[in-house]
Amino acid sequence: MVGEARMVLVTGATGGIGTAVCHQLAGSGYPLVLAARNEAKLKTLSDELTGDGHVWLQLDMTNDQSIRQFGEELAARRITLDGVVLMPPQAHSTNDPMPGADAWRALFQNCFIGPLEVLKAAIDRMNPDPVNGRRAKIVIISGISSAQVLGRYATSNVLRCAWIGEAKTLAFALGARGIHVNTLSLGGTLSPWYREGIEKRADAVGITFEQRLAEETANIPLGKYGEPAEVAVAVEGLLSRFSDHMTGLNIMHDGGFTRSY
Ligand SMILES: NC(=O)c1ccc[n+]([C@@H]2O[C@H](COP(=O)([O-])OP(=O)(O)OC[C@H]3O[C@@H](n4cnc5c(N)ncnc54)[C@H](OP(=O)(O)O)[C@@H]3O)[C@@H](O)[C@H]2O)c1
Repeated sequence: MVGEARMVLVTGATGGIGTAVCHQLAGSGYPLVLAARNEAKLKTLSDELTGDGHVWLQLDMTNDQSIRQFGEELAARRITLDGVVLMPPQAHSTNDPMPGADAWRALFQNCFIGPLEVLKAAIDRMNPDPVNGRRAKIVIISGISSAQVLGRYATSNVLRCAWIGEAKTLAFALGARGIHVNTLSLGGTLSPWYREGIEKRADAVGITFEQRLAEETANIPLGKYGEPAEVAVAVEGLLSRFSDHMTGLNIMHDGGFTRSY
């Protein structure tokens, strides 16, 4: 991968997708800053990763004080970041297109404002040098409701689009500094909670997991949901020289499901 160690922050590091991303990046020699709420899981993951120089920091993206402390800790440890993989907490699925004001405030705080504060703290720790080929890469993990309305995801439809607008705006603002901002929008991806959802839907109608999976993926051109390991490879690509002339993009990782150009 890299001559010089290039440190990458991964939020949501302990989740189904985050864990796969961390193993992929650590295996390629990136030292990582792992962030999530559960300290025991962070420590276990850190111990399991190959390579040296990994650190873990507790972070609750819904809590202002936790976000502040996280930023202070990055600075106190003199961490310089060459990459960020940001996974904003997922909005709950809902069919309600008009939730109440308090529900919206909480959703924007937890899924947009808080994670954006984390991103700002991370950008403060970036020191790219594009003239000498050192570029910093931000990958925001989103979902395919960033590009189309999905029926069961009324609030995600809005929040994902807010992130697309923010990512594009940041790409314009930060490009001259050599900081790239791209979004990877995931379709269904078989992390443990997503598998459990398929299992429940299968049980509800008395069919097997495999039968339900086949039904749900029949309208996807590649005929499958994504695997966390596949997301991890795509993330590594976006952090690498592959994206040296790419910024402000929203890339679908959905097996071809999205029909718009
Ligand atoms: N799986 C899919 O089908 C799919 C589809 C589209 C988009 N995505 C996106 O992919 C990302 C990861 O999904 P996943 O399937 O890996 O989910 P997951 O297994 O539930 O993992 C979520 C991760 O985020 C952390 N997290 C949750 N709330 C947090 C908070 N308030 N502050 C800080 N960290 C928090 C969790 O750790 P703690 O609980 O310890 O904090 C965990 O590490 C999410 O952004 C999701 O929106 C997933």
